[in-house]
Amino acid sequence: MNVLGIESSCDETAAAVVTEGGEVLADVVASQIKVHAPYGGVVPELASRAHVRAIVPVVREAVGRLEGGLAAVDAIAVTQRPGLVGALLVGVQVAKALAFALDKPIVGVNHLDGHLLAVFLRRGPDDLAPRPAYPFIGLIASGGHTALYRVDTPADIALLGQTRDDAAGEAFDKVAKVLGLGYPGGPVIDRLAAKGDADAVPGGRFAVPMTGHAGVDFSFSGLKTAVARRVATDGVPSDEAGIADLCAAFQAAVVESLVDKCLRACAQEGVPRLVLGGGVAANRGLRARAAERCAGEGVDLFVPPLASCTDNAAMIAYAGATRLARGERDALDFGVSSRDPERRRGRFDESGALR
Ligand code: KG4
Ligand code: ZN
Repeated sequence: MNVLGIESSCDETAAAVVTEGGEVLADVVASQIKVHAPYGGVVPELASRAHVRAIVPVVREAVGRLEGGLAAVDAIAVTQRPGLVGALLVGVQVAKALAFALDKPIVGVNHLDGHLLAVFLRRGPDDLAPRPAYPFIGLIASGGHTALYRVDTPADIALLGQTRDDAAGEAFDKVAKVLGLGYPGGPVIDRLAAKGDADAVPGGRFAVPMTGHAGVDFSFSGLKTAVARRVATDGVPSDEAGIADLCAAFQAAVVESLVDKCLRACAQEGVPRLVLGGGVAANRGLRARAAERCAGEGVDLFVPPLASCTDNAAMIAYAGATRLARGERDALDFGVSSRDPERRRGRFDESGALR
């Protein structure tokens, strides 16, 4: 079965074709980074307009790479929630039009399920990396989300904890803005942090957020403010070495917080398998520290390739394929949602105690 996936929830317009086994046959992503860069973040109205311009060419290109073209598409999966409503509507309308015209089944997909299941995508015959067994703990850390899940099956995913304020990627982007490093901030901070020394920062390291709290929630707003306050007091460092040290100190605190909560979730759930996803999973500091801590604690770590971590439609097609495999179909009148209302907290209560 060939599933055409369509993704337009934020600032990437994407289409892909994936088999029910996760083999990626086509994967096209049009990024809007240049559209939003002057504003230092995603501007929803501009995102919608850019999706309208890009969606048909992107779908055409993905289908064009499929042997047999549109006639070889068996079903359509499209991101239905959560995301920017005006952006989601663009992908959903195109997906519905195609499903109607081709008389093929359609399923709406939770974008976060896509991120969590992206680890099962297979990108070419050389892609022989091991995949996790169920259940596993999944971290999604991106510009819009930072949350930990327990994934028992594609249909049984429980939220364990999430950020109480900013997403991790959002903190990278805001700190980069304060330091005048441009947008998006993650890749440039990652690069500079590799050259810097977190212990060389005047004023010392930043406190690791939320380590004193029980449970596995995150918070990055205070850390971002701490960096901004230090810059307001001391000024932006005058040389690249000083900026690199500051980046290293900020990144170290984010990474320690993320990795600490991941391993806490693995321990509390008794699940020794951890999957990283979302754009922040590209971070070299995070990958290295997660590998180190997981090795120390006997947890198997799975980090998908970058193309599977950042927003893409292959993960949406695959998550859709798991819904289709369960016999699920959506009628053509489904709507979109900015939120993820059905994903209730499981396992931990608000105070962090195990239920
Ligand atoms: O998953 P993604 O491509 O899009 C969504 O937000 O859904 O993630 C983008 C976010 C941005 O905030 C970006 O700064 C961050 O991921 N990011 C990184 C790195 N590459 C991208 N953060 C830290 N280190 C990186 N290497
Ligand atoms: Zn995403």
